[in-house]
Amino acid sequence: MENNLKFPKGFYWGVATSSHQVEGDNHNDWTEWEKKNADRLAKEAKNKWQKWQQEKFPEMFDPQNYISGRACDHYNKFEEDFDIAKQLGHNAHRFSIEWSRVEPEEGKFNGKEIEHYREVVKALRERGIEPFVTLWHWTLPLWISERGGWANKDTVEHFLKYVFKITHALNDVKFWITLNEPDDIYAFDAYFVGRFPPQKKSLIKTIRVLNNLIKAHKKSYKIIHQNNSSAIVGFANNVINFEAYKNRFLNKIMKIFADYFWNFWFFKKTFGYHDFIGCSYYHHNRINFGYKKNENKNISDIGWEICSEGIYHVLKDLKKYNLPIYITENGIADVKDEKRADFIKEHLRWIHKAISEGTDVRGYIHWSLLDNFEWDKGFGPRFGLVEMDYQTMERKIRPSALEYKKIIENNGII
Ligand code: BGC
Repeated sequence: MENNLKFPKGFYWGVATSSHQVEGDNHNDWTEWEKKNADRLAKEAKNKWQKWQQEKFPEMFDPQNYISGRACDHYNKFEEDFDIAKQLGHNAHRFSIEWSRVEPEEGKFNGKEIEHYREVVKALRERGIEPFVTLWHWTLPLWISERGGWANKDTVEHFLKYVFKITHALNDVKFWITLNEPDDIYAFDAYFVGRFPPQKKSLIKTIRVLNNLIKAHKKSYKIIHQNNSSAIVGFANNVINFEAYKNRFLNKIMKIFADYFWNFWFFKKTFGYHDFIGCSYYHHNRINFGYKKNENKNISDIGWEICSEGIYHVLKDLKKYNLPIYITENGIADVKDEKRADFIKEHLRWIHKAISEGTDVRGYIHWSLLDNFEWDKGFGPRFGLVEMDYQTMERKIRPSALEYKKIIENNGII
């Protein structure tokens, strides 16, 4: 593929994080679940991971690996981290607000914590970095989870009060992401597969959760606009590039289903309540009678096949909705930083191709700034442009971050 690929003027370049994965010292449904499940996760590691992965992440056998604890201590070090982001040339930064900090008890909003997030936004602005704020990235205050979390319809009203409070307090924030990957990852993993808390496997509950999340998104959309007429609101949609193996008839039918339910369902259900499309892309899945049949010639540390071309296909699919698109996440677990620079470059080439064919992509937000707490996989997988030493909390810029910086400085690949 050619070089000298310039991105549109004013393109946003940055990284994403989420509160629970980086802040440290949280008290929410995940922290409770971690305490109960750390031993089990450590024991299961042997069967879950291949030998080479076990060698790469020996910490997977230690229950402590699955306790978020201090995480990256980003809650206290956000200014230091934003200095790094600035140094790396970023002009956008996605982060999430931790609902459990802001409203630890029903109706009792913690002014100090709200002020903290005002400081976070201010710190970004002082560094010339545009905040993209996520209101919910999977964690719930304990008083919400104890009452059934998103399976309880009252959670919608509680969430809206929180949304009102936050968007009122941060009313200079332009870009809002209501929910992170609500359907395909959260509802699916927490209620259908039962991998994430609250691990309630039930189709009825899954449907209930989905309906409540749909309501939450639509109503939040209105509230945010009422609080700030110039706000730009969307949600982060996890998209997969599904491919019908050998173009066989049955595989093609299954691809249509997979596309519909994984990539477009939530978006269609909330149609008319988006100012942009948030597209989080990590990999593709080749469908063969229901099973993945990936070639896996080039994979990340956690076994996800690297398929940069896939992002082009999903962007082309999203083009028909005629909305600006922001890549809200795209990244790779790569502890040795051997593949990350190429991963970024190749994905950007394909994004550029989609843009050159008329898709309105306005920003690329890489996952992630720092190595962080990777949910039920713990601290093993390393997604950071910046390496974390969790003992000393020292941050070390990886070479790929400097490659990304060059791209940003040139507003393209030259
Ligand atoms: C989630 C992140 C997570 C990343 C890598 C995304 O779907 O939003 O929280 O760290 O995937 O697994």
